[in-house]
Amino acid sequence: MKVFLSCDHAGIELKNEICEYVASKEGFEAVNLGIELGEKIDYPVAAENLCKKVLEENALGILICGTGIGMSMSANKVNGIRAAAVSEPYSAKLTRTHNDANVLCMGARVVGPELAKMIVDNFLEAEFEGGRHKTRVDLMTDIENRNK
Ligand code: RB5
Repeated sequence: MKVFLSCDHAGIELKNEICEYVASKEGFEAVNLGIELGEKIDYPVAAENLCKKVLEENALGILICGTGIGMSMSANKVNGIRAAAVSEPYSAKLTRTHNDANVLCMGARVVGPELAKMIVDNFLEAEFEGGRHKTRVDLMTDIENRNK
C-alpha cells in the first residue's frame, strides 16, 4: 500500500521520522511530498496536494502540522477524503475500522515521535470493517454530495 506523507513547517522533522518509519514497514511504500527544513508552506496547500494524490492512487496519506487540526480541516474539504486528527492509538485504529479514514493527521506539537509511530502502526495495520460502518460512511458521502 502506498502512503503519501506531507507537512507544513511545524511538522517537518516528525514527518521525516515517520516517513522513514513507514518505509521500514513491510507492505508499505512511503512517498515524501515534502516540505523540507528551511521551506515553508501553508497547511491547506500541503493538505490539498496530498489529498489529490491519495485519491488518484487510491492510497493512504499522513499529514503533519503543529496540531493536526488545520491539516484535517483542510483535507476534509476535498471530496472523497476522510481525514482524522488523532493523538492516541485507539482512535487511530477505529478511524480506519469504523470511519474508513484515508488520511491520518497528527500534530508535531502534540505527539512525540514514539507515540506517533504507535499511532501510525494502528492506522496502517487496521482495515475497514464494512457492514453497519459502511452504511454510516455512505451517509457521510451523501452529506458531501448534497453540499458540493
Ligand atoms: C503553524 O504555525 C500552525 O498553525 C499549523 O502547523 C497548524 O497547527 C494548524 O492547524
